[in-house]
Amino acid sequence: MSVASFTSLSRCGVMAFRSPARQLAVRYAQTAAAPSVQPRIKKFQIYRWDPDTPGDKPRMQTYEVDLNACGPMVLDALIKIKNEMDSTLTFRRSCREGICGSCAMNINGGNTLACLNKIDANLSKPTKIYPLPHMYVVKDLVPDMSNFYAQYKSIEPYLKKNDESKEGKEQYLQSVEDRQKLDGLYECILCACCSTSCPSYWWNGDKYLGPAVLMQAYRWLIDSRDDFTEQRLSKLQDPFSLFRCHTIMNCTQTCPKGLNPGKAIAEIKKMMATYKEKKAAAV
Ligand code: SF4
Ligand code: SF4
Ligand code: FES
Repeated sequence: MSVASFTSLSRCGVMAFRSPARQLAVRYAQTAAAPSVQPRIKKFQIYRWDPDTPGDKPRMQTYEVDLNACGPMVLDALIKIKNEMDSTLTFRRSCREGICGSCAMNINGGNTLACLNKIDANLSKPTKIYPLPHMYVVKDLVPDMSNFYAQYKSIEPYLKKNDESKEGKEQYLQSVEDRQKLDGLYECILCACCSTSCPSYWWNGDKYLGPAVLMQAYRWLIDSRDDFTEQRLSKLQDPFSLFRCHTIMNCTQTCPKGLNPGKAIAEIKKMMATYKEKKAAAV
């Protein structure tokens, strides 16, 4: 047996041959050597409102969490609070890795995903958490997304072909270059952080589609396989659906996925201006 294998064998097996007194001594030495850990208490002030409790009014509730016993992200703290302190606290979450978009909320004044947002380690400053702004609230941190999803549905976010006879029979091919045009668009997880940070969407959310939905409209407008570009554009030709965007760019600044919905909207406006001319020239 080589020296190396003897050493590793002895590392694995050594505890089996220690006497109880020796084991106790080792354990004591380990305990004595461990530095005493001070709790790091962080305050979380969280918006609460329960429509099922008659007379309940929106309020902020404070919870104290020891950051030594909590994961690093705001979602970790929310889950800890719900599991260990107050099971009535309500919020959405699923993937906990920035993929599902459910945990979008307003944290310390900015819209973001709780699972991607690190807890501010400054213990003197409470972390303030609200639902996404200017949305109806279902309960606590859960906003009503019905209008947002209806708007998404309205842009028909799927491939549309004039001739559907080949559907399911062969692939609709796309060049590498055309496929690359969709980069930065298809990654959107529809969390609504951008739309709910947009002042135009705050004031006209019933008629203005908002940056998230418009970016998806653009994603289908420029898909080389789609045959309905003109119809898609004409559906946006009114004073509200698209043109309520005033290029304030809150949307791009807030997107937790690093996307640029403000630019996509600007591109649609350019398409609006040039599409018909280009088409006429091509005939
Ligand atoms: S650029 Fe347009 S969509 Fe984005 S925040 Fe400003 S107004 Fe809203
Ligand atoms: S563009 Fe960004 S902020 Fe807006 S819905 Fe998509 S992922 Fe969320
Ligand atoms: S839990 Fe899915 S994005 Fe945060």
